[in-house]
Amino acid sequence: MRQLIAGNWKMHTTLAEAAALAAALVAAVRPAPPPCDLLICPPATALAAVAGVLAGGPIALGAQDCHSAAKGAHTGDLSAPMLRDAGAAWVILGHSERRADHGETDALVRTKAVAAAAAGLMPVLCVGESEAVRAAGRAEAVVAAQLAASLPNGFAGAVAYEPVWAIGSGRLPTAAEVAAMHAALRTALVARRGEPGGAVRILYGGSVKPDNAAALLALPEVGGALVGGASLAADSFLAIAQAAK
Ligand code: PGA
Repeated sequence: MRQLIAGNWKMHTTLAEAAALAAALVAAVRPAPPPCDLLICPPATALAAVAGVLAGGPIALGAQDCHSAAKGAHTGDLSAPMLRDAGAAWVILGHSERRADHGETDALVRTKAVAAAAAGLMPVLCVGESEAVRAAGRAEAVVAAQLAASLPNGFAGAVAYEPVWAIGSGRLPTAAEVAAMHAALRTALVARRGEPGGAVRILYGGSVKPDNAAALLALPEVGGALVGGASLAADSFLAIAQAAK
């Protein structure tokens, strides 16, 4: 399966900036399609505008979170059907910043993944260990438990392994640590889902940059990358995409 390179724009870009960045990506991939699937996840305010820019092209659009209910009295929240309506096909769920800033639990992430699937959105379900957990030698056990508790039955989407301490820090796990974690996640996905679990792309995320992308993307069971900071400039995001297998 083709690797998936996903850009998580987080709480960045005005409407004009988002449209311009999306337009730059569209212009670059039209004559030179990258060897991978591309997904960009702007802030929700820019989804509809970016959907217009991407229309009919190969770059997919995603949101960064959704509520677990389809509608209701939830001030400030956005439902999966609303995001689908705005043009999203994917949604990032359980990002460590959501878990930290908003106290999201595995159980909540699971209900969000159910809601996303019901609305026709593909989740990018994020898991990852803290630095203390890694230092204690418990990373694989903790991340496997996170996956087990946040993965809904019948899951179809992508999983993103993002060590919390690697996000935005410029620090990376070793190649051996990434490979071991991705192998553990693959084993868990197959045990849980059977054959379809073998086809779920497992992305690596956390300080992916143009200069380290090729090495990360060459590791076994790395099915792509979830890119934060380096997705905010067309050049660096596309350089990462060009490093895909
Ligand atoms: P980063 O963020 O690439 O800036 O480390 C990755 C993420 O949080 O998804």
